[in-house]
Amino acid sequence: MYFDSHAHLGEDCFAQDFVNIVEKMRAADVTGMMEIGCDGPSSHHAVELAHQYDWIWAAVGSHPDDAEQVDEARIGEYRALCKDPRVKAIGEIGLDYHYEDPPRDVQQRAFRMQMKLAQELSLPVVIHEREAHEDGLRIVSDFPDVTGVFHCFSGSWEIAKEYLKLGYFISFAGPVTFKKAPKLQEAAVNVPLDRILIETDSPYLAPEPVRGRRNEPTNVRYVAEKIAALREIPLEAFAQITMQNALNAYCIKE
Ligand code: NI
Repeated sequence: MYFDSHAHLGEDCFAQDFVNIVEKMRAADVTGMMEIGCDGPSSHHAVELAHQYDWIWAAVGSHPDDAEQVDEARIGEYRALCKDPRVKAIGEIGLDYHYEDPPRDVQQRAFRMQMKLAQELSLPVVIHEREAHEDGLRIVSDFPDVTGVFHCFSGSWEIAKEYLKLGYFISFAGPVTFKKAPKLQEAAVNVPLDRILIETDSPYLAPEPVRGRRNEPTNVRYVAEKIAALREIPLEAFAQITMQNALNAYCIKE
């Protein structure tokens, strides 16, 4: 039993063989998944998907790439979507300074507006933070009653500790399996067992040994195998722990 805490099955690249992907997930014992919105349309799609399968839940929100589209109307749209009990989080939201597009101030504004919505609705958030650690930490610290998940964690153990202090879960994706990832692997070994999640971020960032291909949720097993081996715990126990953690992080009651 694996829970993929972050995937985007609504992406065009899954349109042709979507049913096949879902069947493979069931066969590979992926029994839980969060479908994550990146903008208006993908958020609506996530909710639809969560109604089709009772083991898929939805997050709605705008990725920093889409920050320019976040205005009061969009927030109102998300607020309405969140009335649906299949919606379990606001995300993915956050900051990405890798490319300075959209500009930092626009990203920060969109991030704050969506953190505020999460606070208002008492929902967890799914945060994307890339090369924006200082500003990211400052903004989440301004919302002390909000917690959630730092997804596709890419920082060091030092950075993970700061997010953990604020009550967040840390989610690891394909990069933790890469050969040259000692810092990330150090973090994956040290995050407390009740605060660690696994994900694929499908269709991006496929783990070893399928690196470079279209990623899909069945590959969450490779992420689990890597971390279980690093931590020297049985795979099955680690899968079960991360399943329970995902249910806790997203307040899913089964
Ligand atoms: Ni994502």
